[in-house]
Formats: sequence, structure tokens, C-alpha cells
Amino acid sequence: MTAIDFSQKIVEMIDVVKKFGDFVANDRINLTVHKGEVHSLLGENGAGKTTLVNCLYGLYRPTQGRIRIKGQEVEISDPNAAIQLGIGMVHQHFMLVDTFTVTQNIILGRETTKMMGVLDIARAEKKVAEISERYGLAINPRDKIQDISVGSQQRVEILKALYRGAEILILDEPTAVLTPQEIQELVMIIRNLTQEGKSIIIITHKLHEIKQVADYCTIIRRGKFIDTVEVDKVTEQELASMMVGREVSFAVEKKAQQKGEQILAIQDLVVKDNRGIAAVNGLNLTLHKGEILGIAGVDGNGQSELVEALTGLRKVAGGSITLRGKEITGSKPKEVINRWNIRTIPEDRQKRGLVMEFDVAENLILETYHDTPFSVRGMLNRDKIYAYADHCTQVYDIRPTNPYLTAKSLSGGNQQKVIIAREVSNDPEVLIASQPTRGLDVGAIEYVHTALVNQRDRGKAVLLISFELDEVMNVSDRIAVIFEGKIVGIVDAIGVDENEIGLMMAGGTP
Ligand SMILES: Nc1ncnc2c1ncn2[C@@H]1O[C@H](COP(=O)(O)OP(=O)(O)O)[C@@H](O)[C@H]1O
Ligand SMILES: [Mg+2]
Repeated sequence: MTAIDFSQKIVEMIDVVKKFGDFVANDRINLTVHKGEVHSLLGENGAGKTTLVNCLYGLYRPTQGRIRIKGQEVEISDPNAAIQLGIGMVHQHFMLVDTFTVTQNIILGRETTKMMGVLDIARAEKKVAEISERYGLAINPRDKIQDISVGSQQRVEILKALYRGAEILILDEPTAVLTPQEIQELVMIIRNLTQEGKSIIIITHKLHEIKQVADYCTIIRRGKFIDTVEVDKVTEQELASMMVGREVSFAVEKKAQQKGEQILAIQDLVVKDNRGIAAVNGLNLTLHKGEILGIAGVDGNGQSELVEALTGLRKVAGGSITLRGKEITGSKPKEVINRWNIRTIPEDRQKRGLVMEFDVAENLILETYHDTPFSVRGMLNRDKIYAYADHCTQVYDIRPTNPYLTAKSLSGGNQQKVIIAREVSNDPEVLIASQPTRGLDVGAIEYVHTALVNQRDRGKAVLLISFELDEVMNVSDRIAVIFEGKIVGIVDAIGVDENEIGLMMAGGTP
């Protein structure tokens, strides 16, 4: 069935290293793709997949290593150079102008004359229609982008690359934005493309998709090349264990759990994303006092929408959320915080967690400035506010210990400590921690983990949402795996098999 021509190596990336400062995002990665081959890149979030393909597409210059295209060693200085070499890329986020038609988007930046004449547009439309027909893309050249589905928009991006003569197509997590049916359509398109001799590099974390479309798979873990395998010769289990790895990460100090009564219950919850698709799709979960419940899952399986629904930032389309048996579905963000005492360490600490222009003291009282002792008869009491901030910088180890510094002048780890200080000192019933350690260094990570465990040891409930499986496994008492908006399994963290979780995260069945 496959149409691989092993005599033609289309892409060779040899010992590619890419550093950002001291951070090594790609550490001697090797990748070979033949003509007509579908090659998938597999790795957890942050493994370095996008960085690698960005090097191939000329968006980044590798720090070291070589790239050959059709046997020729090349320097790919920018995306134009990549396009000249026959490399096309469909990014995770599309780059289309909404108010333009398909054809206008495709010829954007390629106009040979200043003003595209009517005839040129007509010619371009004809070519777009031909390409669409040939590969089964089902695109109407005259449709406006804003009127077509996300799946169609993605096919326009594919078409744009083909229009420019792409022989090698890079698809960065193309299925993350698609419905299951659109995924099947994409699989068909990929088959059509390889039949015509195109080569595909596809990034996905979903093992069944790899099994379905890819011939070869290269696994990257924490920037390192692990292996390239022939997909038919490995099981989903083997792929999962290569992706997740077996290295032990430092364990979080935890006492035996004193699990209490159920406090939060989520039933058949449905929450739509910005496109109107059910990102949370019939989710059930209960949270108990004195436990950390970790939600493991790959980015984009409904985690953000779940947190937004719980915190009142996003409308609930169906189902219910109850706290101690009381319906809290549809509560406003203020009610969630003040009335239900549910506090959140938000996913985006700079947008949702802090006011970056405010100083540390002001950020610490964002939710309480109108209460005594910070306000008296509507007047802010600055002495009390800064005294409290001094206390917090000590207790929560916020550095430098100067409450007059703006949030934006602090490191990521210290910004996170300000948020933790504010949320935890309000003694929440439920603490939701969404990606609480993203981008933090090892010391700050340990601090955040200890703060979560302290809440749990004080009998509070903690919901931890993280894309880092290690983090979920180390910190949680129970682990729920989210996949496509549903909880697909819940296990005790003690004695858990990480490969089993990795497999569920990728939609496989253990
Ligand atoms: N422009 C950049 N500057 C600094 N760090 C970066 C940059 N791009 C990516 N990184 C870091 O490199 C690592 C790999 O990122 P990425 O290639 O996007 O991972 P993946 O696509 O596998 O999820 C991450 O830790 C990320 O934070
Ligand atoms: Mg990526």
C-alpha cells in the first residue's frame, strides 16, 4: 500500500542541535524521510518537535548539525528558502486572512505584478480548483475563510503549500483542531498525497493516528533523539513507553493521605470551545477533601475549557458542577472566588494571574483590596497593604523581597509565588492548579509542588491539571486521564504504571 521510494532520501537532518540560550531544545536529532513516506514525530509537550520542524522550515537556524534535501546539503535561512526547496508547512495556528477568499489567501505575497488582474485571479482560481480536485481537498476557491470550517481552513493551508510546489509537507499537530470525522478526511488526503509522491512529516501525540497513517516514527524525549521505528513493527504500548520514558524524576515528599468526604462533583459536563465544538464532552469527576486529583492529558483535550467552566469564565453547555451538593454551575467568577471559595492558579499567569504593571503588594490583594484591613470606608490603607506584602514575601519566599517591584520585573517562578501566596492565603476549599509549573526552574517547581501538598495535608482539595505526566504522577493521590473532553480512566497514583497512563493519554486502550 505504501508508496515509499527508498532510493530517494528527501529530507535528512543530521545531529541537529538547537539551543535557546543555555537551554537545549534539540539535542543531536536525526531524521530521514524518503520520497512518498509519512514520518511522524512523537514526543510529549515540550519535547522539541516544533523546534525541529521550525529548523527545517527555516524559522530557526540550527545551532549545530546538517540538513540535506534530496541529497544536497542546504542552509535554510528563512521560509522562502524552504519553499524554494519544496518544503511546505502547516502550522499549529493557521495563518490565513479571514476576510479574504481561499484564492486570495493562496496567492497572498506571490503577486507577480502590483495589481492582480482579473485574468490572474481567474487563472489562480482554476489552479486552486485543480489541486483541490487532484488531492480530494474539497475546497471552493471562492469561499471566504471566515465562512469555512476549521478542517477546511487546514486544507486551504495544505493547498497553499502544494500551490507553491511543496514536495515535503510538514503538519504540526494537524489533528489537534479537528473533529474525528475531519481526522479521517485528513488521513485520506495524506494517502492521496503520498500516492502522488509527496513526503509528509506529521507531528501528533496520538498513537492510534500514528498507527493509522505513518510509515516511520521518530521519538523525541526532552530534546533527545530516542529512536526511529517502523510503525508496523511496534505496538502502541511500545510507542508510549518510548515517548514517556522510564527515567525517574525526583519524588515529591508526601505523607500518607487522609482522604475526606467528597466536596466537588462534576457530572456529564459539556463545555464548548471558541469554535463551538464540545471541548469538554460529557466529563465526570469527583474531588475529595485531603486529596490531590491530577488530570493527565495531552494539551488540547479540554483541560483549559474545564478549568474555565469551573472558574466561571466559560459558559457550561450541559451537565452540572456541585460543591458540597450545592449547584454552582453557571456561577460568575466573583461568586466562584468569594462565595464558593474556589481559588485558581491559572494556566496563563501573566494574562490571568497577575496585573503585570502592578507591584507585588497590589497583586497580592487583587481579590481582597476592598476588605478590612486593606480598605477602610472605601480608602485604601497603604501601610496595611505593604505590611501584609512584606509578610507574604517572607512566608512565600518571593524574591527579591521588595513589595514595590512590578510583577513584570520578577522571574516566572517568583511571579508564580505571588499567585500562590494570594490564592492559598485565602484558605480555599478547592484549589485548582492549572499548569502550575510551566516554564519554572527546578527549585520553583519543588516550591509549587510543596505548596499543593501542604493544602492537601491541611484537608483541602486540590485539582491539578498538567501536561507533564511526571508532575501528575509525582504530586497526585489519584490520576484521572482526560482524552477528547472525557475522563477515560481514573487510577490510584500509588503503584501506577506510567505506560498505561501514557497509552490512555494518547487515546489507546490498555
Ligand atoms: N523561541 C523559544 N525560546 C525559548 N525556548 C523555546 C522557544 N521555542 C521553544 N522553546 C522551548 O523548547 C522546548 C521545546 O519546545 P517545542 O519544540 O515547542 O516542543 P513540542 O513541539 O515538542 O511541544 C520547550 O521547553 C520550549 O519551552
Ligand atoms: Mg509543538
